[in-house]
Amino acid sequence: MSIVYACNENVAHSAAPPIPLAGAWARRFPASPDNPLINLSQGVPGAPPPPELLSKLGEAAADPKTTGYGALQGDDGIRSALARDIAQTYGNKGGALPVNVEDVVVTAGCNLASRRLLICSIATTPLMLPRGQAFYATLLALAAPGDEVILPTPWYFNHQMSLNQLGLSLVPLRCAPPSFLPSPAGCAQLVTPRTKAIVLVSPNNPTGAIYPPELLRQFAELAQERKVALIVDETYREFVTGRPHDLFAETDWRSYLIHLFSFSKSYAIPGHRLGALVASPSFQQHVYRLLDCLQICPARPAQRTVEWAIDATRPWREGVREELARRQDVFREMLDEVEGWEVETGGAYFAYVKHPYPGASSELVASRLAEHVGIVALPGTFFSPPFDNVDDDAFIRFSIANVSENVLRRVPERLRRLNELWPSL
Ligand SMILES: Cc1ncc(COP(=O)(O)O)c(C=O)c1O
Repeated sequence: MSIVYACNENVAHSAAPPIPLAGAWARRFPASPDNPLINLSQGVPGAPPPPELLSKLGEAAADPKTTGYGALQGDDGIRSALARDIAQTYGNKGGALPVNVEDVVVTAGCNLASRRLLICSIATTPLMLPRGQAFYATLLALAAPGDEVILPTPWYFNHQMSLNQLGLSLVPLRCAPPSFLPSPAGCAQLVTPRTKAIVLVSPNNPTGAIYPPELLRQFAELAQERKVALIVDETYREFVTGRPHDLFAETDWRSYLIHLFSFSKSYAIPGHRLGALVASPSFQQHVYRLLDCLQICPARPAQRTVEWAIDATRPWREGVREELARRQDVFREMLDEVEGWEVETGGAYFAYVKHPYPGASSELVASRLAEHVGIVALPGTFFSPPFDNVDDDAFIRFSIANVSENVLRRVPERLRRLNELWPSL
């Protein structure tokens, strides 16, 4: 139905949400109990959280105290628990916590939920704002339309979409196989007086690449030298063994770092919309103004539950981490047995897989995968600027965390089947 009013052009021209696009391919697959659809598209936890966590959520939701508004920066309990958790994960210097409660803001998700926009007005500028907002709020606080933000490719598509929606200029930093690691020297060449931030995601979505601590240290030096913010989205950090980096413990991190985290994956509660933004209180002052419009406060039952869960569910989370690390090995071995298909990089939730069909775009291959053999996975085109050469467009992201290992073990036979069908498709 037509409408008489005009919409924001930046939003209209941003990419369509990719997961529903893949869902449309999947609906064309004639799934049956013997031949079910295997959905490895959206990065989602493959199993629910422990029953104790679920019952704590239920109790918290049933408590009248959590029905009221809370502090806009999140409740103190979860903020201090996360500050302690960061010290445990990243180490501390001389026993002092590297992150204080004032550095932590809890948000309704780490990301943005671009399918659920709400309209909010800040000063006189109308803006389209999402409901899950650590990344969005960070960008709004940092940059104005026309400013530049450097994003390594392949990128996390919601990062690209939010930059476009906000009218920011996205500067791609191309990362090449086999490692897909971004180059600090290459990045330095892209910094201009309009650059406001460099955005990194480690462990990476979509490639699964885990950025070594020394690499992150080089980006930290670059950010400090060129006076730009370094935004590091560490949504998947709990799925990796060892210290992700030493920026909190060893550097003057508040001067340049903005750390983003999500409770969606580690705690298996994406529907409860909880994330966090860790940055200098000087920056948080700006974020507060935005959050007052965006969220007023994050969901309170989930906050109370996660405050408890940060310490209480550590052994369970370690178990999930070990399971996923093992699964990465299993998946790689399984694909070794299928002609032409190869895991290029992998880590945490994702395997970035090279397909064997020269001259075919990843989007074509992903659509055929879903329609003909019932595997839903996302093509590299969803995570990249347009490719100059179709043979560079050779990667498909499989989210191997989504299903049990037994289900994952059905993937090779389906890929073999696609290899057989391919000449006739
Ligand atoms: C890198 C990255 N950041 C953020 C998110 C979303 O986090 P949340 O559910 O907390 O908004 C995702 C989810 O896929 C992600 O991959």
